[in-house]
Amino acid sequence: MCGIVGIVGHEAVAGQVVEALRRLEYRGYDSAGVATLAHGRLDRRRAEGKLSNLELRLRDEPLPGAIGIGHTRWATHGRPNETNAHPHATARLAVVHNGIIENFRELKAELQASGVRFESETDTEVVAQLVSAEMDKGLGPVEAVAAALPRLRGAFALGFIFTGYDDLLIGARHGAPLAIGFGEGETYLGSDALALAPFTEEITYLEEGDWAVLTREGAAIRDIDGNPVSRQRQRIVAQAYRVEKGNHRHFMAKEIHEQPEVVGRTLAHYVDLANGRVALPEALPFDFKDLSRLSITACGTAYYAGLVAKYWFESLARLPVEIDVASEARYREPPLDTAGLTLVISQSGETADTLASLRYAKSQGQHTLAVVNVPTSTIAREASAVVPTLAGPEIGVASTKAFSCQLTVLLCLAIAAGRARGTLSAERERELVDALITVPGLMADATKLEGEIELLAREVSKARDVLYLGRGTSYPMALEGALKLKEISYIHAEGYAAGELKHGPIALIDESVPVIVIAPHDAIFEKTVSNMQEVAARGGRIILIGDAKGAAAAGLDTMATVTMPDLDPVVSPIVYAVPIQLIAYHTAVFMGKDVDQPRNLAKSVTVE
Ligand code: AGP
Repeated sequence: MCGIVGIVGHEAVAGQVVEALRRLEYRGYDSAGVATLAHGRLDRRRAEGKLSNLELRLRDEPLPGAIGIGHTRWATHGRPNETNAHPHATARLAVVHNGIIENFRELKAELQASGVRFESETDTEVVAQLVSAEMDKGLGPVEAVAAALPRLRGAFALGFIFTGYDDLLIGARHGAPLAIGFGEGETYLGSDALALAPFTEEITYLEEGDWAVLTREGAAIRDIDGNPVSRQRQRIVAQAYRVEKGNHRHFMAKEIHEQPEVVGRTLAHYVDLANGRVALPEALPFDFKDLSRLSITACGTAYYAGLVAKYWFESLARLPVEIDVASEARYREPPLDTAGLTLVISQSGETADTLASLRYAKSQGQHTLAVVNVPTSTIAREASAVVPTLAGPEIGVASTKAFSCQLTVLLCLAIAAGRARGTLSAERERELVDALITVPGLMADATKLEGEIELLAREVSKARDVLYLGRGTSYPMALEGALKLKEISYIHAEGYAAGELKHGPIALIDESVPVIVIAPHDAIFEKTVSNMQEVAARGGRIILIGDAKGAAAAGLDTMATVTMPDLDPVVSPIVYAVPIQLIAYHTAVFMGKDVDQPRNLAKSVTVE
């Protein structure tokens, strides 16, 4: 994740900006930079590597100015060097950015066609040039940002300063967090409250789609449509613990909302965004084309991620997959080909059953590949290769952001396998990568459904039993949805393949059993409609998680419909994880459960 800081104050700000950037170092970075405005003139200093390199640069070439922005960059588009380091600038402005602008290629082509020349490989420079182009048309800074923001797609946060405007700082949030701090005649912008703690105890978190115009007197916040809005101010010190929760009541809520950002970061690690292809940074000690079969083993939510991956490896790479829960695989002692591949998936990297399965696979001469969130974990150390999820620490016992990051890594692996096995054309790979690039923005859009999901969760909370149904890759999502609900609300919930309902579970259906159906409008949607009609005919109450096209086609009188954004069905499991998690979360919160530490559960099960 990148870090953003901005200050509009009364004294030289460059040193304060760097001090705030230090508090964002935990996010990981590979270059940094500062831009300030002095006597109306914009200037910047950037350096590859650690902040100490930037400080040396500033010591040799000080930056005056009482208004400035700063950035720690975790490279997504373009190499980690000074040219690609933020802030990016034109003669009119400087900008810092966290996240991914998924439509940057088309915007860049449009700007190049109008004569704009780019110096970097970044999507951020496209934002700088886009706003600058609006100002070339005669718009002022605020109007130019207002005109440019709606053209940007993806999950991002932005900070701007403008040549000639030494009392103006603009910040914008869409999918990546951004906070505003209020001081004495000074106003601050930061990726999180921790960055602002050295300067102020009074902050406001921008909400999805908000953007803000900051001056020394304060901040004017607007929503995505440009309407003035007011956001709650709070004191950091009084809620230091809450700061760690990023303004949320529970870690689980924070981690659900972090998904656009951390999925974007994970994606950037595995995809060459500029060229639309998967580029695995980790060298793998095997070649997918040599494999006759892939074995996958994991537990709980990680196992459901593996189940989704089975569909992807088999459909995209034509690679047969055998998958089993680790607690069974370790004792079933499956016959494994020597030099074959076993893939283990684990958030903690310490789950005893998964570790035992890894060791069994190694004893059979298998290559072992670990998808883990903790690179220093036992599983990571013992596997022959690791492909990390970059979800950051996951505190809530119920796995959320780790799950969506696992799916992101697994889809990238399946695409790489397809390319290696010659089952995916370069064109189809680019289509798949383009679909993946839309995921962070779609997840940010999905979080906006939280209000209506909170209402329907109140109905779910009254149920004694809940069924989840899905087909194709939505079937493992039904299993995951049932697990999320039961493990934090303690309501009995089961996931089923939608086509399996008539083979027994339909006997459970009556008006007391909500049936949650996960069904994007994909090639098998009509089959799922039949299953929903079977449920409705028996008085069952349906909650449909789907898209507008599917809801219209189904033509059913549902208990509720969660209308998801349109998307390429191949990525639906990643994006649909958000409503599934929010239903479980708000049901449990409404029931007064201990959401972050549910009864009987541990975050990592290191015993049998
Ligand atoms: C998921 O919400 C649960 N907390 C649990 O099923 C978990 O996924 C499982 O214990 C596996 O943990 P791991 O990913 O750390 O191996």
